[in-house]
Amino acid sequence: MQPVKTAVFPVGGQGTRFLPATKAVPKEMLPVVDKPLLQYAVDEALAAGIERLVFVTARGKSALEDYFDIARELVDSLQRRGKTAELAVLDDTQLEPGRILYVRQQEPAGLGHAVWCARHVVGREAFAVLLPDELLWSPANPALKEMCAAYDRLGGNIISVLEVPEEHTHRYGIVSPGTVDGLITEVKALVEKPAQGTAPSRLAAIGRYILQPEVMDVLAHGKRGAGGEIQLTDAMAEMIGVQPFHALTFTGTRFDCGDKAGHVMANVALALERDDVGPAVRAWLKTQSL
Ligand code: UTP
Repeated sequence: MQPVKTAVFPVGGQGTRFLPATKAVPKEMLPVVDKPLLQYAVDEALAAGIERLVFVTARGKSALEDYFDIARELVDSLQRRGKTAELAVLDDTQLEPGRILYVRQQEPAGLGHAVWCARHVVGREAFAVLLPDELLWSPANPALKEMCAAYDRLGGNIISVLEVPEEHTHRYGIVSPGTVDGLITEVKALVEKPAQGTAPSRLAAIGRYILQPEVMDVLAHGKRGAGGEIQLTDAMAEMIGVQPFHALTFTGTRFDCGDKAGHVMANVALALERDDVGPAVRAWLKTQSL
């Protein structure tokens, strides 16, 4: 089995839940403490051994390209002023030339459409998809790294899932489970946003996927699903039964940073873990009548 070397980051969405900020700043550039959301996803991909990063962008997202470029004037200025700590912080934002590729999604036709836009870059090999607005926090066992380890054993398609409360299942793509082996669940079907009380399990898909290239052939049909968009879940559903399809339960903490409350929670939780800002935030929280 070939290791997964390519990751697709769909960042073409409009981020309407974060207006007015997203009028001028891409959602993926919103910081959690001091790093943009996208940087967390890129770090996770690199930790999993990903070599090629494909960003599916859109109009108004040029800040992403600037962020992962070398800011020559800034670097020169920091060097002149002897700001070595600040220079070191920039290291993670500067990848070797050619490792990041940009593809444009010309219309926001859905997540499935965004993934399909990367087809020529992905080629005919297994690839990962990471949704950067889902912050999967697990520094010791990064989510995609664990998925790649599962992929080495099982092959086929692997999605990351989390057990959510029954009353939240209608917000997610939910797994209809087959055989369960520890954290691995065989996927019998995927149900997108099931109506209250009809979910086949509480295992919700949370924005990390390892997929076989054949999913691109399904997406090429351009079939519109929920919300009139081309849905990745619908395309994946067609792969089930044709190819092995498993879910790996994520054991870390997941923050839905596409949602305002989730984004605030991520900021508080990650700030509390840090030595520089943690003590001040903790002390302030203690003064609040929560
Ligand atoms: P969301 O459903 O969160 O949509 O997309 P959104 O546009 O980003 O945000 P809201 O709901 O309007 O606030 C989930 C992921 O799919 C990407 C998004 O960038 C995000 O990573 N996406 C979605 C695309 O790349 N293109 C699309 O057409 C839609």
